[in-house]
Amino acid sequence: MSWLDLARRIPALWQDKRTRTQLISGVGAVAGIGAMVASYAFLREPLHVRLDRLTIHLPNAAGNLPPNGLRLLHLSDTHFRGANWREQAKIECIRKACANLEYDLLIHTGDFLHHDSGLPNVLTLLDALPAPRLGSYGVFGNHDYSLYSHSEMLPRAWARFQAMHQETVCSEEALSGSMNVHDSTHTQSSVNGSGATRATTPALTSTRSRQNGSNGRVTALTRARTLYEFGYYCANVPLDLKRTGRNDVNALEAALATHQVQILHNRSIRLTHPEVGLDIYLAGVDDVVEGTPELHHALGEIPHDAPTILLSHNPDILLEPGIEQADLILSGHTHGGQIVLPLLGAAHTQSSHLPRKEVSGYLRRGKTQVYITRGVGEGIPLRLGAAPQITLITVLPAAKS
Ligand SMILES: [Fe+2]
Repeated sequence: MSWLDLARRIPALWQDKRTRTQLISGVGAVAGIGAMVASYAFLREPLHVRLDRLTIHLPNAAGNLPPNGLRLLHLSDTHFRGANWREQAKIECIRKACANLEYDLLIHTGDFLHHDSGLPNVLTLLDALPAPRLGSYGVFGNHDYSLYSHSEMLPRAWARFQAMHQETVCSEEALSGSMNVHDSTHTQSSVNGSGATRATTPALTSTRSRQNGSNGRVTALTRARTLYEFGYYCANVPLDLKRTGRNDVNALEAALATHQVQILHNRSIRLTHPEVGLDIYLAGVDDVVEGTPELHHALGEIPHDAPTILLSHNPDILLEPGIEQADLILSGHTHGGQIVLPLLGAAHTQSSHLPRKEVSGYLRRGKTQVYITRGVGEGIPLRLGAAPQITLITVLPAAKS
């Protein structure tokens, strides 16, 4: 029986008292489970920040790292906005997890705050952490620069989706006209084969479905398909948030400096500490969305064979030419998808190129290793299957092959 048939039979089923009781119980049970999951995603999971541990082996680093490895405490995406008991709970959680922790470098890969009013909590968090042995460094994220509104997110995404859809229709019509070919299946494979992004694929399918429709008549099926394609599109492109203002990024940088946190703004430093056997380069690139990223400046001064760690808020920096010079990239921004469902995976990547299974954690691109943390905070205060985290990364030299 189809869902449509079932829907048609509901009025008849409702007449039967026993069936009616079962229906009410079923709906109540689903609503109860939904409320429990929502409470967990709002009140439980986001507030319990985990301290995870990871070991990464760096090539060309024999003799450049301390004998027991370089220990980085990686934080990101704190998204503090202030006057918020949730933030105090997260800070306490991190304080307890890191009590007596010994490490070398504190790294923050951006989105320190969501709003200027979150600055006191950023400093409270820094005070709650044990001091690193060798220094604290960071880069800015898009939220450090800008304020956004979520209220027009869906209408803006719909407008962009429709524009992309229209563009596809036009290009397909032009292609069909020039080739005098009307085989829509052939058209789709040709466009995809020339490198269409994953977000354009459903729109192309929609075009085909419209072409297959009966003289352009909109049916329930085409509506449902368009809705599905819109959902797919939203899940695979960065959220289209409207910028509503600016944070005071200079005040943030100055405040961080009072806590000995240096922002690596399209530049690198040579971390030389002969007393512990450390000699590597640490670079930072500005945010790719709201900043002025200049990777050639960030990496330009570094000798080609020197062990190099790059900080970039947004993992989309991986698309930049020259990125392969970095041996290890530390990023955040994705929040691990925030909502990760069984079988479906991350609801959203907030990245223009990462597949959902690589929305956080360790991955490789060629010889470049990447670690994307799920981060501490969030804009929309929900997490499910993507617990907030900080990570103690031990960097050791890779064995020579
Ligand atoms: Fe973020």
